[in-house]
Amino acid sequence: MPMAERYSALVPAAGGGSRLGAVVPKQYLELAGDCMLHRTLDALSAEPRLSDILVVLSPTDTRRPPAGRFDRRVRFAAVGGATRADSVAAGLEQLDANDSDWVLVHDAARPGLSAAVLARLIDAVGDDAVGGLLALPVADTVKRADAAGRVVATVDRESLWAAQTPQMFRAGILRRALAGDHTGITDEASAVERLGLQPLLVRGEPGNFKVTLAEDLQLAAALRLGREDR
Ligand code: CTP
Ligand code: MG
Repeated sequence: MPMAERYSALVPAAGGGSRLGAVVPKQYLELAGDCMLHRTLDALSAEPRLSDILVVLSPTDTRRPPAGRFDRRVRFAAVGGATRADSVAAGLEQLDANDSDWVLVHDAARPGLSAAVLARLIDAVGDDAVGGLLALPVADTVKRADAAGRVVATVDRESLWAAQTPQMFRAGILRRALAGDHTGITDEASAVERLGLQPLLVRGEPGNFKVTLAEDLQLAAALRLGREDR
């Protein structure tokens, strides 16, 4: 009988948070009495099907999350690279995953992932040949701008989705997708698409937004993201 597939989470947390502009990388900023990284790891730890949760930190990051605070499945590797894709590729090498095992890549900067939506992703993608990602249909009318900030065109939003994470792929496909040059790769799905494959879109949730700017942090705090009592 073949071995059951394993599910691992890989959390890129090696960015500097330049757009947020704080003195520390944003994953270490306080959010509702805890640090954002803890909130994100708690959200992942709620899923019993994850057998391990690997956090990729930057080798130049002198902060280290305090030991003992985490679920026993959480481990850290200071192997992050210059881009998010570099960090994910380096983290993949640290995972003891067979080609058919699943890897769920989830941004450290998305503390608002709910257990229900994480479970929905795994349920929807667990039998898929390719893999998939959380995403939301674009609700606003979309404009294309020129360099002067004037509208060039209104883009048909009918088939547009905004990608979130986790993005869930088999380790073998992900390794292949990230083996070459990472130029232009902003998420795992775009790398998998380059292989000619079509990831499955699974409906995410608005609260699973990425904390990018200072105002996103305020919103996350106001929503008490990651708090079980919210
Ligand atoms: N990330 C990473 N390694 C990098 C760049 C980003 O692991 N070289 C991680 C970030 O820590 C974050 C996630 O990828 O959890 C999403 O990236 P982003 O929101 O762009 O975070 P930062 O790169 O830290 O922020 P900024 O782009 O504003 O500097
Ligand atoms: Mg970045």
